[in-house]
Amino acid sequence: MTSTTTKGTVGDGLLHDESIHAAFNTIVEKVGEYSAQITEVREPTAEIATDFKQMLTDAGKIKGRPLMYPSISSGVGNGALVEMADGSVKWDMLTGIGVHFLGHSNPKVIKAQLDASLLDTTKHGNLQTSYDAVTFGERLIEHASKNSNLAHAFITTSGAMANESAIKVCYQKHAPASRVLAFENCFMGRSVTMAQIGDSAGGRQGVPLSTLVDYVPFWNKDQADAMGGATKFIDYTINRLEQYHARYAGQISTFIFELVQGEGGFNVSNPDYLKALMEFCKAHGIAVWADEIQTFGRTEQMFAYEYYNLGKYIDVCTVGKMTQACATMYTEEYNPKPGLLSGTFTGATVDFTVGNVLLDELSAGGNYGPNGKFAAHHAEFSKQVAALVAKHPDWFPETAGIDGFCGGLGGMMRFTPFGGDKKKVMAACKEAYKQGVICFYCGHGPFHVRMLPPLLAMKMEDWPRVFECMERALAKVAAGKS
Ligand SMILES: Cc1ncc(COP(=O)(O)O)c(C=O)c1O
Repeated sequence: MTSTTTKGTVGDGLLHDESIHAAFNTIVEKVGEYSAQITEVREPTAEIATDFKQMLTDAGKIKGRPLMYPSISSGVGNGALVEMADGSVKWDMLTGIGVHFLGHSNPKVIKAQLDASLLDTTKHGNLQTSYDAVTFGERLIEHASKNSNLAHAFITTSGAMANESAIKVCYQKHAPASRVLAFENCFMGRSVTMAQIGDSAGGRQGVPLSTLVDYVPFWNKDQADAMGGATKFIDYTINRLEQYHARYAGQISTFIFELVQGEGGFNVSNPDYLKALMEFCKAHGIAVWADEIQTFGRTEQMFAYEYYNLGKYIDVCTVGKMTQACATMYTEEYNPKPGLLSGTFTGATVDFTVGNVLLDELSAGGNYGPNGKFAAHHAEFSKQVAALVAKHPDWFPETAGIDGFCGGLGGMMRFTPFGGDKKKVMAACKEAYKQGVICFYCGHGPFHVRMLPPLLAMKMEDWPRVFECMERALAKVAAGKS
């Protein structure tokens, strides 16, 4: 039972109807039988190739350009394995860019999806809602407030919308301040405002620029070493902030912290650096906003601000992706005036029933900390990369701008073959897809192979199997045969 309502109502009777749940359990078992047939990487099936090609053509026509990957799933998978509509089976190391953290055909997800089907409406909103949206927000805040002052959650449908709400909260609190600070190479989503803040020229091509953004360097160990240590790098950046503050006194509303950069290259920061920047914000009346849309759940703590031990500084925090429904959280002090945040949809019933399962599973124990399951997965991933580097040193030439051939944190994993060359890294991702691994690239140069695996479903023994496929893919690219 993943859906809740008040006792004594007709709805309560429906949600607790034993015969319905017995039928659901039968369905879950049946799905499990199909799921169990997916056991290893498989080539596409020749007989359905024509139908699948047609699907791809249709998908390309609708979108106006071909899909980046011929990636349409059949609707069934097993843990980290997913069956595609061409009959092939692949390791899903991308999970829709970090969404399916519970893996494929997870019985708990299937049951939560069935529970959602009982409700009278599909969508919930700010004017009528089921209680599940409330429990979802309540649970998020319960976790978030353990190590921060976050007190309220506004639920919404996408990461970009959560960020749009966050920026409004910051603007209102610090009105009329209208500038924002952000890290170089940050990513914040694809709405008009977020595309302007995100530090990617391609992402804002043709978009009129109305948002006033000043960029600050992300932590960079090489640069810090070249300057003479972390303190020098901190001093340099604080000096930049002081210049911005002097130039735009009273006009800076917020500093957006992507605490581990996602699209920017899975770059991990330094806690002292972040602390110095956040203290600057506190001293100068600038909101500290953590964009945890990619980091939430998957670092070595549930929130990346907990990993860096910076929760007390956070005024606003946004989460999304694996949470299914997205949220903007804020402290009591930042609770906006009525009218600022609303919208037709908060999400679909299933977003909340599955989102609640996700929160249960994340907090079940054993996942977090330096000795937790997510850290262990990262260590195994690093071991596989190290073995690949040792076996094929020519695929891993010395590369400027990286701190080791693999990096990231917890379930954010990257490695850097072929000197981080964009063409070769993209070719490696495409070839990996053919060889049975779904992955993607990240970074703005050097470029990296990026993985966001379903750590709540993945087994440690899956890793060598994933890397067998990766090795085949890299071999093809190295030989110029991809
Ligand atoms: C850090 C960060 N912020 C915001 C977003 C936007 O989320 P969405 O794509 O759900 O709008 C993303 C998506 O990749 C992200 O990584």
